[in-house]
Amino acid sequence: MQIDVFTLFPHWFDWFRGQRHVANALALGSELECVDYRAHTPLSAGQVDDTPFGGGAGMVLRVDVVEAALRARYDDDPVAVRERRRVVALTPGGRMLDDALASELAAEEELTLLCGRYEGFDERVLEHLCSDQISIGRYVLAGGELAAMVVCDTVLRKLPGALGHEESAHEESFSAALDGAPEYPHYTRPAEWRGWSVPDVLLSGHHARIREWRAERSRERAEPSGGASLP
Ligand SMILES: C[S@@+](CC[C@H](N)C(=O)[O-])C[C@H]1O[C@@H](n2cnc3c(N)ncnc32)[C@H](O)[C@@H]1O
Repeated sequence: MQIDVFTLFPHWFDWFRGQRHVANALALGSELECVDYRAHTPLSAGQVDDTPFGGGAGMVLRVDVVEAALRARYDDDPVAVRERRRVVALTPGGRMLDDALASELAAEEELTLLCGRYEGFDERVLEHLCSDQISIGRYVLAGGELAAMVVCDTVLRKLPGALGHEESAHEESFSAALDGAPEYPHYTRPAEWRGWSVPDVLLSGHHARIREWRAERSRERAEPSGGASLP
């Protein structure tokens, strides 16, 4: 998979590239590259933003700046680019990222992520240069970089070989293997700690019963109060 992230802070992604599952995905042929809006701005002194028409607080990321960066990267009209690869703007009000959307994105061969800053994008970026808008939650971050990392993290870990052992990605929260429910609880040694013991069934060695117990716990957690209850 080839991912381009458009950002004012490309160096933020140096740390991210070193994280193990990301590094694994990159070693196996995926690519994660950053494009700096400022490096391609047609304006003087590295300007990328401007005051909002109609007044109001804050600055807005300009449409001509975003277009110039996309054009420089793809050597084509960005309006045409969004027809052949998904160009996703990270926005607080966009389609909410969930496991189904992550799987959908992981099936793409190419992906472009646009990080906003300040008050966000000039609306014409969203209307004309993007194919999608994605939100990582109904709260506001200072910029799209962390949101882009969240998207890349969940997408890249779905690619074959990114995780050490494939089983982890197959049967985990919200996966089809668990019918979209949260994952069941895990325990490890010690089997007894401060009187808190591991459920007997997990120590029984009876695989069919363990599978059944895990499926039940997962189903319970999918119920409205399932995640909130204490043991
Ligand atoms: C300070 S925010 C802009 C918020 C905008 N004025 C609003 O009220 O919706 C700057 C940028 O951060 C990114 N961002 C902030 N929160 C986000 C979220 N929950 N999901 C995805 N991107 C987000 C977007 O790229 C956004 O353009």
